[in-house]
Amino acid sequence: MTTATSAWNGGPLLAGKTIVVTGCASGIGLETARVAKLMGATVLGVDRTMTTAHVDELYRADLADPRMIQALIAALPDGVNGIANVAGLPPTATPELVLKVNLVGLKAFTLGMIPKLADGAAIVNLASLAGFGWAAQVPAIQASAELDFDGVADFVRTHDAGAEGGRSYFFSKEALVAWTLQNRWTWRERGIRMNAVSPGPVDTPILADFIETLGARAEEDMRVMDRPGRPADIAPVVAFLLSDLSGWIRGSNIPVDGGMSSHILSNLHGL
Ligand SMILES: NC(=O)c1ccc[n+]([C@@H]2O[C@H](COP(=O)([O-])OP(=O)(O)OC[C@H]3O[C@@H](n4cnc5c(N)ncnc54)[C@H](O)[C@@H]3O)[C@@H](O)[C@H]2O)c1
Repeated sequence: MTTATSAWNGGPLLAGKTIVVTGCASGIGLETARVAKLMGATVLGVDRTMTTAHVDELYRADLADPRMIQALIAALPDGVNGIANVAGLPPTATPELVLKVNLVGLKAFTLGMIPKLADGAAIVNLASLAGFGWAAQVPAIQASAELDFDGVADFVRTHDAGAEGGRSYFFSKEALVAWTLQNRWTWRERGIRMNAVSPGPVDTPILADFIETLGARAEEDMRVMDRPGRPADIAPVVAFLLSDLSGWIRGSNIPVDGGMSSHILSNLHGL
């Protein structure tokens, strides 16, 4: 068995590692690519949008398209040491597209990459504070376990993931948090780990989409928070989870939200 944990020798955290960053053209993915490069990684970027910033190589792909995902997996090299699954659509996109990119495509890409990963590799899923309520959605999450691209239209018709008010986005993140927990030990004999990072509202091009969809709820969040997050608040945590320093963190969902999830939990439990 390969263990990813080793005593840190003071060098750059991702030196010698090849890291795939999806959604690398904007926002949190762009900053993750920048930080990973600064930490010594070779960064293979994936996005539907053209970019050359902070990536050693860009692989153009639409992660809503199963054929493109298979072609992407085939094109990427063997021996990848980490995947940051950052690409995602906001709740203003159609429910079908949100589920395809944020959940079904992410899972298909990740599972397809497992044979190409090096032993000891780390997978980090960009979930969200929007996934906080996953425990109340277990039946729907279980119903989505084997969901494929062809089944998405039917799924949004028959589950409240298709409902108004951004439910598709919330559901995609709830199911992603649950999937991360479920995979705490799936590839343990190869030392492959999966974790999630759940940001609160972050100032990127899609923040306005959240505020538009969530209305009063988003305004209340912004009122109690001292400031929205920045991509630079999130990317270093993703990079840490990609590094060998976090080898004993497995199947965890790390909130990076300026205290919002603790605020919600404190209120919920009367603290
Ligand atoms: N911004 C926030 O407030 C916030 C909060 C919590 C979680 N998140 C999550 O963080 C992740 C990144 O969001 P962001 O705020 O940086 O958004 P962003 O729009 O700035 O970046 C998203 C990137 O994903 C790419 N992308 C979208 N659909 C794609 C597809 N079909 N195929 C390939 N690439 C695609 C886009 O081209 C873009 O480069 C998302 O998963 C989002 O849900 C964001």
